Amino acid sequence: TKTESLKVAVVGTGYVGMGTAVMLASLGHQVVGIDIDQNKIEMLRRGELPIYEPGLEDLLRASQERLRWTGDYASAIPDADVIFICVGTPPLPSGQPNLRYVAEAAQSVARNLNGKLQVVVNKSTVPVGTGDWVSRILEDHALDYSAGRYVVVSNPEFLREGTALHDSLYPDRIVLGSSSPEGIERLRQLYQPLLEQTFTPPEGMPRPANYTLPELVTTSLSSAEMIKYAANAFLALKISFANEIAGLCECVDADIEQVTHGIGCDQRIGHRFLSAGAGWGGSCFGKDTAALINTGSEYGYTMPILRAAVEVNQRQRHLVISKLQRHLHRLQGKRVAVLGMAFKPNTDDLRDAPAHDCIARLMDLGAKVTVHDPVAMPHARREWAHLTYDEAPTAEAALRGADAVILMTEWDEYRALDWDQAVRTMRRRLIIDTRNVLQQLPQHSTVEQVGRTTLHNVPGN
Ligand code: UGA
Repeated sequence: TKTESLKVAVVGTGYVGMGTAVMLASLGHQVVGIDIDQNKIEMLRRGELPIYEPGLEDLLRASQERLRWTGDYASAIPDADVIFICVGTPPLPSGQPNLRYVAEAAQSVARNLNGKLQVVVNKSTVPVGTGDWVSRILEDHALDYSAGRYVVVSNPEFLREGTALHDSLYPDRIVLGSSSPEGIERLRQLYQPLLEQTFTPPEGMPRPANYTLPELVTTSLSSAEMIKYAANAFLALKISFANEIAGLCECVDADIEQVTHGIGCDQRIGHRFLSAGAGWGGSCFGKDTAALINTGSEYGYTMPILRAAVEVNQRQRHLVISKLQRHLHRLQGKRVAVLGMAFKPNTDDLRDAPAHDCIARLMDLGAKVTVHDPVAMPHARREWAHLTYDEAPTAEAALRGADAVILMTEWDEYRALDWDQAVRTMRRRLIIDTRNVLQQLPQHSTVEQVGRTTLHNVPGN
């Protein structure tokens, strides 16, 4: 089947919005991205991305003829068959997501609807029930109320930062939640190239060998919203479970890598998202678990499993420091190198990164901190201005003269480091490998990993 090209407007050019816009343009649709931040619009028009995401900039350039960026709703909404709302929902101090931007976007969309069938899609992660609320905003603010035939669909996003493009082209499922069959049908058309994998994979992003076609999951509006939260909560839970077992492995002299491999072979459990380490971070897991617990409390319903997952994750961040103290005791005046600041590799995103809490704690304890990250350092200058640390131009430089190094983020560059060579310049060869990255122990070194006994590579030992 040949794909019919649809006219799409994407409100919000943050992570999800920009990825969605570029991906849909690459599939052959006509896309306009809207943002009130004029700087972002200027950048995107020049073909530059405001964030770092592998492969996306190339695809942006390759799809440029079907992509337009604007700050003006009136020039984008009236023509659109499908309107995505992809604005941010940053957490409020209470842990609830701030829905102000969603409300503002919905109002601006409403004022520009054309009276024909237009499908408004919620892609931002919003609490269960928000779809209905957006519907009401559209009704309240549409200029021609009687003519309005807009419908609302929830289409949650499951992509991961760092592999956003891959995840959006080769999803496991596409979830569409709505009470409107017309709305669902139009989005099915939009996603046809993905559902049948009829598009030509972009350069450097081939279809995985064992990839099976994604399932189209159609649900009610609120079920789709719940699927998003439940999926993230379950993934967070898996990680926290692995971390909890890892702690016990250290007590009983078992090895978490062997244990998770062993349990993951059971297909009911699976291998993925069982890596023990410094715990989860990023803009999603913390926010979404908090929001789900919060939704529960609105109804007087407690969520003990999720609360425990959050608690284990907090504890995990402190364990990094305990491991240092086990060897260095007082950290006052000690020099500690931190490799990796982003919450995971292949992104410059610093939100809720375990490295933040670790550096803050090291500062409190009087340690001198030197950091390195392949891409996130410029970002950190702005966002972590309240932290005091030195920047090193390379990982090797960070290690020079250090009493210990904490490997926080498993960038490939750190895996590939000549560790034997690099540790020679350290004052003490102590490595806290919070992601269990090191396969071979550097000479004359002591390595602490997660869920494993302390490893010493000291000749004669
Ligand atoms: C997560 C989900 O994986 C996506 O499916 C979802 O769409 C996204 O949130 C979202 O809601 O927008 P993301 O936050 O980009 O994606 O990052 P992940 O790759 O899931 O990693 C989250 C954190 O878990 C990272 O800090 C990572 O280091 C940690 N992690 C992951 C582990 O500690 N162990 C693992 O086994 C896997």
